Amino acid sequence: MISRFVIPIISLVVVLSIISSEAQLSTNFYDAACPNASTIIRNSIRRAISAERRMAASLIRLHFHDCFVQGCDASILLDETSTIQSEKSARPNANSVRGYEIIEAAKRACPGVVSCADVLTLAARDASVAVGGPSWSVKLGRRDSTTANQAVANTDLPSPFSGLQVLIDAFDKKGLNARDMVALSGAHTLGQSQCFLFRGRIYSNSTDIDAGFASTRRRGCPQTGGDSNLAALDLVTPNSFDNNYFRNLVQRKGLLQSDQVLFSGSTASIVSQYSGNPRTFAADFATAMIKMSEIEPTLGQNGIVGGPSWSVKLGRRDSTTASRDVANTDLPSPFSGLQVLIDAFDKKGLNARDMVALSGAHTLGQSQCFLFRERIYSNGTDIDAGFASTRRRGCPQTGGDSNLAALDLVTPNSFDNNYFRNLVQRKGLLQSDQVLFTGSTASIVSQYSRNPRTFAADFATAMIKMSEIEPTLGQNGIIRRVCSAINS
Ligand code: HEM
Repeated sequence: MISRFVIPIISLVVVLSIISSEAQLSTNFYDAACPNASTIIRNSIRRAISAERRMAASLIRLHFHDCFVQGCDASILLDETSTIQSEKSARPNANSVRGYEIIEAAKRACPGVVSCADVLTLAARDASVAVGGPSWSVKLGRRDSTTANQAVANTDLPSPFSGLQVLIDAFDKKGLNARDMVALSGAHTLGQSQCFLFRGRIYSNSTDIDAGFASTRRRGCPQTGGDSNLAALDLVTPNSFDNNYFRNLVQRKGLLQSDQVLFSGSTASIVSQYSGNPRTFAADFATAMIKMSEIEPTLGQNGIVGGPSWSVKLGRRDSTTASRDVANTDLPSPFSGLQVLIDAFDKKGLNARDMVALSGAHTLGQSQCFLFRERIYSNGTDIDAGFASTRRRGCPQTGGDSNLAALDLVTPNSFDNNYFRNLVQRKGLLQSDQVLFTGSTASIVSQYSRNPRTFAADFATAMIKMSEIEPTLGQNGIIRRVCSAINS
């Protein structure tokens, strides 16, 4: 028997965009201007891979090396000029990254309409499919950058000599978690590496390399010379997309140091899982490629990006009562200390991380002077002196109580992570904002200040959690005809 408390059936899932963005990536972006773009590009990429199978690997890597430097904006394709220091000559790219001319050729579809950044993104997907890898749907609408950043290419592209934590941090900086990193590294099921990048490992006689494998690889990679001799990253099936890369790691037969370290510490279990389950790997690879392809996209006229979206479950019922007392006690005060705030959210089933993420809503909107006056006249050490003095101009010591100031002084009308960057610089407007950068929540603020994608993802999760606090369901409550009164 169905209990009367069971929710009727919440089958309606609506995607609600909290803040409509000026421009967004979409799967049908070129449908009007260049309806055949995807087909023309796919055919061009297929031809290139039939001519040289390794090109599939090279194109996937090209997209990765583009996305890790100021987002997927085709900055990697710009040649050196008097004003541009090309990323092509950065250490991880020079004499290593391939496929530039294939992108140029594929780009002939609707020149001036389809961005190079979108061609790179489609090419990576088409390359995966061409060698038996997964497919995924690609959202389009990236714009091409007008600048390149060789310095960031040198610092932000991961090195094959890195340890696990350094790799995890490098991906985290781009909003990709450890699981994404392991899945994406599975791209090394394809392609090749030059001898000087794995020589140290194969001559190390260490315990994390299979002796037979090391000796085979030494034959093609002498101790001196032969720096650019090539060896397959996946010794079993270098030209097919499968999970042999992970099976190799379990057998200590990873070619690069950065491959083998994935089978240690916190990521070892993910490698094991993928080694046993090619379908899980393929699905996670597709998910992570989409995530990577949407790192800091440049959109619209000026790159305005809105806040995150999430699925909203529906079926809440309206109350027949209200409580002024609880509104007075349970809504947090801007004068509260950290523990009081943590407790206020905890009382509603939201943890400290949810609280910090939700407070990020102060990336938008304004506050009245009387709510932050004390802080800006406090001369406290937790407020930047220049910021305090700027804010005092709009909020006198007496009067002007309802004068407004932006909660995020940098970009008050855009959803981004500047709120957290402000806190790190002691430029939070409310006392309750600034205290988040102390004690147990300081590290979360730091993380969000560095990583807008992590913030956006956590914000969406916490908004869902908040929207599901004690819902009134089933037979309880009512559906009001007018929202400001109970039904008569
Ligand atoms: C975990 C961090 C990573 C490191 C340290 C790393 C490092 C390297 C290195 C050193 C090479 C050989 C380059 C050469 O010999 O010139 C290589 C090749 C390659 N990488 Fe990675 N990589 C990483 C992650 C990724 C990711 C995320 C992707 C794509 C999703 C990727 C795709 C490839 C492919 C397909 C090749 C072969 C390219 C070819 O044969 O042309 N790698 N990588």
